[in-house]
Amino acid sequence: MGVERVLPFRFDEAEATFWLLDQRKLPFEEVWVPVKTAREAAEAIRAMVVRGAPAIGVTAAYGMVLAHLAGEALAEADARLRESRPTAVNLFYALDRMRPAWGSLEQALETARAIWREVEETERAISRNGAALLRGQVLTHCNTGPLATGGYGTALGAIIEAWRQGRITHVWVDETRPYLQGARLTAWELQKAGVPATLITDNTAAYLMQQGEVDAVIVGTDRMAMNGDFANKIGTYGLAVLARHHGIPFYPALPLSSVDPALKTGADIPIEERSPEEVTTVRGVPIAPEGFPARHPAFDVTPHALITGIVTEKGVLYPPFDEALGRALGLD
Ligand code: MRU
Repeated sequence: MGVERVLPFRFDEAEATFWLLDQRKLPFEEVWVPVKTAREAAEAIRAMVVRGAPAIGVTAAYGMVLAHLAGEALAEADARLRESRPTAVNLFYALDRMRPAWGSLEQALETARAIWREVEETERAISRNGAALLRGQVLTHCNTGPLATGGYGTALGAIIEAWRQGRITHVWVDETRPYLQGARLTAWELQKAGVPATLITDNTAAYLMQQGEVDAVIVGTDRMAMNGDFANKIGTYGLAVLARHHGIPFYPALPLSSVDPALKTGADIPIEERSPEEVTTVRGVPIAPEGFPARHPAFDVTPHALITGIVTEKGVLYPPFDEALGRALGLD
């Protein structure tokens, strides 16, 4: 875990500012955005200045710290942050954790720090547990590294650790249309970590699997239901179907805080619909006839039956997932 990592945020108590590395501009420019209120934090999450399930959880927690510092109404700040993005449960998990700490700035700060520290601790374990499953050539989707979490990363943490341990030879990086988290962020993080990797368009995965060039698929998770169904970046479900067809192991990696104990199955996970403009343009350049309709569901749900094992900080969980998740969460 000694590789260089870039974190997506830092808190400056003296300046009463939560600084966000603008992920919309990476890898071309490294611009830090000052966030001074919960309102600004919510807007930064919505606009994807910061993104990735654990990272938006930590940002929401510090958003509540900023609400204290800026004298905003706490209930309003909490509501605004809850409305910023709907799918990743980490946002709601963090805000639920912050609620009992509404009493004072000190309590809020202590809880936000604890949430961030737990991201680091759980991801150390997730990276080790996931690395042990990987070998040969690994394919991943979206961005699940330190930029997406504020820690070591989940799926990408496992990949980087597996490389460090000499378990894997190469990584295939899905570009991840339309937001290009793979091309812009995962490629950047793997380059910094010195891991041999190749960028592919999302529709190349099937070909590579058919050629025998993929030994495992590992991805992140935005919200998992109690039966193991999980939402992740659009395109994840397709990869799971492909992996099953080709007999390739398929693993979601996540902290247990990404499990939503209120949901029995993935059918009730809210799926964010983003602007069609993100499909009809690439970094502001049109790629379709003006006014042509487009749709951008930002996530899909992978059914648990397509999962080989679930990588968590408490080890790798195997079917039946409802029982394994219940035990891991201490619910039985
Ligand atoms: O829309 P994004 O970029 O926030 O989506 C991120 C993902 O889908 C990640 O795979 C997920 O948040 C897991 S991050 C460790």
